[in-house]
Amino acid sequence: MLLKNKNIILTGSSGILGRKLSQKLLDEGANMALIDINKTDLKDLKKNLKVNNNQKLKFFNIDITNEIDVINTVEEINSMFGSIDVLFNNAASKGPSLEKFLAPFEDYEISTWNSVLNVNITGIFLFSREVIKFMKKQKKGSIIQTASIYGVVAPKKDIYKNSSYKGNEINTPAVYSVSKSAVIGFTKYLASYLGPYNIRVNSISPGGIFSGQNDTFVKNYSSKVPLGRMASAEDMFGIAIFLASEQSSYLTGQNILVDGGFSL
Ligand SMILES: NC(=O)c1ccc[n+]([C@@H]2O[C@H](COP(=O)([O-])OP(=O)(O)OC[C@H]3O[C@@H](n4cnc5c(N)ncnc54)[C@H](O)[C@@H]3O)[C@@H](O)[C@H]2O)c1
Repeated sequence: MLLKNKNIILTGSSGILGRKLSQKLLDEGANMALIDINKTDLKDLKKNLKVNNNQKLKFFNIDITNEIDVINTVEEINSMFGSIDVLFNNAASKGPSLEKFLAPFEDYEISTWNSVLNVNITGIFLFSREVIKFMKKQKKGSIIQTASIYGVVAPKKDIYKNSSYKGNEINTPAVYSVSKSAVIGFTKYLASYLGPYNIRVNSISPGGIFSGQNDTFVKNYSSKVPLGRMASAEDMFGIAIFLASEQSSYLTGQNILVDGGFSL
């Protein structure tokens, strides 16, 4: 139990990665404050998570871009838990709809562009700004941010031919790459700024996680991966625990690619 009694905030906790990470971090002994904008999925998560009697588990159905809600939530978590050891900025947005999010570059709507940036980078800024007020006083903390391979390398267009996900042709929009590059830049900035307070900041860049993409896409994508397959949420467990624990005590400002070698 590498995370016994650690108090962790995880945003985007009801998503593909967040759901599995929530249980894994609980299994490692952490107390968890789980944040998500999706009320139904958060309720569903609440029903399914398994905790020990002495473990704290709280749910917050908020929008991470709402400044007042973020300020109040972070204050509430700190007073309920007594401290905040880890902030895991994991939430990301697919804009107003999947169709708009995946729209061709020439047709991309500015409202979709702005709404994605608002969550993927401004939301992270807000949560970090509030949490570090407490971490600075404690003189310790770890901030983990989920970036992406597409914040590091450009998408390979040929993998999208005849692809499909929930009825839409798959595509990686420019705003996604832009937002994830920004997360990596922000990680470096924060790591440098917060080093004197013993607060470490790192990002994880997962490769494509399998979540029901059609066989053609899985085959095309996997052919570009030296390990020959898409990622699973479970593939991210090791790095998440490592960054949240003291095992990574001298690591800061890094972006760790967990992509089976895709970016090579
Ligand atoms: N799935 C992949 O293949 C993949 C690959 C690389 C990186 N990532 C990154 O990993 C992280 C998790 O991805 P995922 O696949 O679980 O995505 P997901 O869409 O399943 O989960 C994201 C979660 O964030 C929540 N969210 C969105 N906007 C929010 C807001 N304004 N306030 C609060 N919560 C909000 C959503 O409701 C959702 O539960 C994201 O940062 C994503 O960009 C995912």
